Amino acid sequence: MPKKAKVEEKEEPEAAVETKEENEFSIENLPRIGPKGLQKLQEAGYNDLRDLARISPKELADACEITEATARNYILKAGETTGIGNFRTAEEASERQKSKETITTGSKMLNELLGGGVKTQEITEAYGAFSSGKSQLGFQLAVNVQMPKEKGGLNSQCVFIDTEGTFSAERVSQLAEARGLDPKKVLRNILVARALHSDHQVMLIDKVREMVKEKQIKLIIIDSLTSLFRVDFSGRGELAPRQQKLNKHIHELQMLAEDYNIAVYVTNQVMARPDMMFGDPTTHVGGHIVGHGTGVRMYLRKSKQSMRIARLIDSPSLPEGEAVFKVTDKGVTD
Ligand SMILES: Nc1ncnc2c1ncn2[C@@H]1O[C@H](COP(=O)(O)OP(=O)(O)OP(=O)(O)O)[C@@H](O)[C@H]1O
Ligand SMILES: [Mg+2]
Repeated sequence: MPKKAKVEEKEEPEAAVETKEENEFSIENLPRIGPKGLQKLQEAGYNDLRDLARISPKELADACEITEATARNYILKAGETTGIGNFRTAEEASERQKSKETITTGSKMLNELLGGGVKTQEITEAYGAFSSGKSQLGFQLAVNVQMPKEKGGLNSQCVFIDTEGTFSAERVSQLAEARGLDPKKVLRNILVARALHSDHQVMLIDKVREMVKEKQIKLIIIDSLTSLFRVDFSGRGELAPRQQKLNKHIHELQMLAEDYNIAVYVTNQVMARPDMMFGDPTTHVGGHIVGHGTGVRMYLRKSKQSMRIARLIDSPSLPEGEAVFKVTDKGVTD
């Protein structure tokens, strides 16, 4: 593989821009499909077995003008080939778990809290009040994912979906320089999109699903996941539809993370209640919009000066605990 050699040319995040290896998930690898069937699938935009495995028979039948029985057959075969939505042994599932990779946050303590760092195949959610460090951690991860593996990165590019207009190229450059990286190259490896409304945000993720097939992307950041949903569904009685749509969006993110072995980092602003002295100050104020579905949830809060405290909230596989880290001009550190 030519890629290996490139990686060894120390700290060359541009190596990430290389085209991916041949796609083993190409629709052409669907067992026993005729040229006509193949053409219909391709014309309808299905080029990847992982997409095919996820779609419903009715949707596929309509898109390709084939019978539902044929559609079901294709989907089933795609499921068998990719392992998506199919039975597998617990041992195989465990192997898949082991293929998870981590991106360093920049803080050893925070990495430990998260079980090594921000993980692929999972959604990591940071929630907290303004200035708690949610965006800063996002910027830091966008830089760190570009670093070589031995430095805690994944030698890859990142997608940044900015819903609040707070993405700061200047701040990212500063963080890159602090890590000894060329800011220009680092910025080139971050694909930023400003989401305009909640539907647009959902559409952007569809687009990302296409991009990850071509590009070496290992991290998707949505800062913030929830703000546009809050704006678009702010009326009385809109809570249920908002929740429904958000759940679907989160589900799609989770599938993307699993299918392509990608880490997803999302932020969620919640107001702290100044009148509440004890317990979790963010309960009862719509703090649990995201709730289940995300892999790791951490609650961030500001402490003295640059200090931040992260607390893990109901993680299925990690012990509860807290980590203290700093956000300085150089970024996230211990
Ligand atoms: N260049 C810098 N040097 C030092 N500290 C910085 C720098 N830039 C940002 N910070 C720290 O990060 C804080 C902002 O954090 P961040 O933007 O992550 O908040 P947030 O949790 O995303 O808030 P919001 O909910 O408003 O989006 C600042 O208050 C400051 O303490
Ligand atoms: Mg922010």
